[in-house]
Amino acid sequence: MATASELLSAIDDLGADRTRGGFSRHVLDRAEQELREWFTEQARLRGLQVTTDANANLWAWWGEPGPDAVVTGSHLDSVPGGGAFDGPLGVVSALAALDLLRARGFTPRRPLAVVVFAEEEGGRFGVPCLGSRLLTGTIDPDRARALRDPDGVSFAEAMRSAGMEPERAGRDDAALERIGRFVELHVEQGRGLIDLQRPVGVASSILSHGRWRFRITGQGNHAGATPMGDRRDPMLPSSRLVLAARDAARDVDGARATVGRLVPNPGGTNVVASSVDMWLDARSPADAATRGLVAELSGLAEKYAAEEGCRVEISEESYADTAHFDAGLREELATLLGDAPVLPTGAGHDAGILAAHTPAAMLFVRNPTGVSHAPQEHAEPEDCEAGVTALARTLEHLAGGRPPEHSATSLQRE
Ligand code: GLV
Ligand code: MN
Ligand code: MN
Repeated sequence: MATASELLSAIDDLGADRTRGGFSRHVLDRAEQELREWFTEQARLRGLQVTTDANANLWAWWGEPGPDAVVTGSHLDSVPGGGAFDGPLGVVSALAALDLLRARGFTPRRPLAVVVFAEEEGGRFGVPCLGSRLLTGTIDPDRARALRDPDGVSFAEAMRSAGMEPERAGRDDAALERIGRFVELHVEQGRGLIDLQRPVGVASSILSHGRWRFRITGQGNHAGATPMGDRRDPMLPSSRLVLAARDAARDVDGARATVGRLVPNPGGTNVVASSVDMWLDARSPADAATRGLVAELSGLAEKYAAEEGCRVEISEESYADTAHFDAGLREELATLLGDAPVLPTGAGHDAGILAAHTPAAMLFVRNPTGVSHAPQEHAEPEDCEAGVTALARTLEHLAGGRPPEHSATSLQRE
């Protein structure tokens, strides 16, 4: 029976980013496919039945897939240079929790499944939670299929190269109807549990959030031969917009605005850029406030661009309304887990997408650095174990198993 930390150690070579540090594991790239293979093998060793759905999500079933299932899991992809825990902790904890249940001789009354969602970070194709958005019909499958990575490969092409059939992608009512309850365990991406001195918490809500691409176009030119007064340099409005994003977000309660990616084209030291692509990630507790923030920044982008003789095109790449987790389930789990603290989060999750369709909940595991989406993200082995114990308790409670002495069968090893 492996611990969550041992399972994480088993994959710490896959997708390790030797240049940026941390891990770069993007959906259907080599590292993420190796992680899928590793997961499939681990699930099969536990006697689980593994399938890939039409939307590139992996499912491992304890027993026959069926209605009113209790589903847990998370994702295996990362941001560029991300931490080891964001996503994989939820997947390995699910496996370890099943081991714990099996060791106790537990037999679930309801079907139980572990899911690995595809492209949760949007690190390759730009739309986060792509697998759960497709499953729930939250994104048009034609749009999803046409998304392209920075090398120009479309999501449809990536699926096909991985042996999947992109034409089948889209809302999956059969899969959705099977999910009775969804619980995602995740490393905490803030300091809430540090401050409360608790190893495990339950999520209350997720900030509304989205991504917008600003393409600012000017005139490419020579850095030495072009007098300062003769330039139409798109880097200037872009830079002003980065500062404006910080200032605008500071004025809205609980809001965040980030420009984490800015790409000048063609990108030469001695070249005035011809265009700049920059992505704004904006979030806040209220949908209207997030929309208002983006509207304000869009207006400023037009103004700054015009002042430099540039043009701007703005496109929304993704959006998710504020997610409130099922209040009944949340309270039930907080009580079950010994009055676990209930905390909001600013990070997006597949559980937030599913929450609009099925009762969903999240468990957070303390992160002693408070840092996430960076190599310093961490969880101590004893806190990971507390997470596994809490998840096992949760699954046992929700799957309504018979007490161990009445169990007829348990998960078998092959
Ligand atoms: C994913 O972690 C996000 O919040 O962007
Ligand atoms: Mn993340
Ligand atoms: Mn995550």
